[in-house]
Amino acid sequence: MADISALVAEIAARMAALPDRGRVADYIPELAKVSGDHFGLAVITADGTEHVAGDADTCFSIQSVSKVFALVEALGSCGDRVWDRVGREPSGSAFNSIIQLELEQGRPRNPFINAGALAVTDLIANRTDSDGSGIGDILRLVRRLAGDDSIAVDGAVAYSEAATGFRNAALANYMRAFGTITGPVATTLDVYFHQCAIAMSCRQLARAGRFLAHGGIDPASGQAIVPPERARRINALMLTCGHYDASGEFAFRVGLPAKSGVGGGILAIAPGRASIAVWSPGLSPQGNSLRGTQALEDLAHAMGWSVFNPDV
Ligand code: DON
Repeated sequence: MADISALVAEIAARMAALPDRGRVADYIPELAKVSGDHFGLAVITADGTEHVAGDADTCFSIQSVSKVFALVEALGSCGDRVWDRVGREPSGSAFNSIIQLELEQGRPRNPFINAGALAVTDLIANRTDSDGSGIGDILRLVRRLAGDDSIAVDGAVAYSEAATGFRNAALANYMRAFGTITGPVATTLDVYFHQCAIAMSCRQLARAGRFLAHGGIDPASGQAIVPPERARRINALMLTCGHYDASGEFAFRVGLPAKSGVGGGILAIAPGRASIAVWSPGLSPQGNSLRGTQALEDLAHAMGWSVFNPDV
């Protein structure tokens, strides 16, 4: 068994020193202000030990990683009704693609592409028993999972995305026309932009993901967050759909369920072993963290962590 702390430190130092770091997202103007030099890594093993290195305690915009938490929230309140409006197939398309929606009668392929996430968030934002605080519900869940009430939405990022989110507005309006989204589009978009703008550090994100590594139970609190079958299914979706049109490549290289965001963060789960969060803002052409992916590949390889490894 490798010395995890030393490995985490070694990977972080190596990644931080690499010259080619990918391209920081600039279609959300506020994200373009983030330096591409950052690198953070946090690994929390089953016994609760936290191995961190680099900028592991610096907050960044979790962006699409929030789609995992929104899915947990929606499944918690709506159960399998979620699957009436969103599928469970990899899209093979860009995260913000609109073309598949027309071909498939307004039903998004999965909850992790933008269209699918908007359909999920609509359930939270516009549920009949809601007091209208959809973002409050998602934030409460994330704070509870991370055991940290300081986690908050970065208002500047939310505003920046709302001011430029014409593509998401198009997706949401288009789905409203099909009846996939049923509430007021403006409300759904508002909650979606705010959930994407939640700011967290790698350490906080890794803590928040622990329940997925341990059959739905958060080892820190002992609380059952989701039933074991739901945890397995969310992991399955993360593996098959968590990296958009690079999900197959990610499974090939890393072999772990994971969800990326255009802020450069990735939450990865080594079932039974660890919850891992990495942050490196420069992205691949598909919108996934370039060096974050490489770090996960190196870590998973060194540790023998893979859902395809019979020893794990
Ligand atoms: O809706 C968007 O475009 C962003 N708020 C989130 C996209 C995202 O993170 C996709 N990630 N790779």
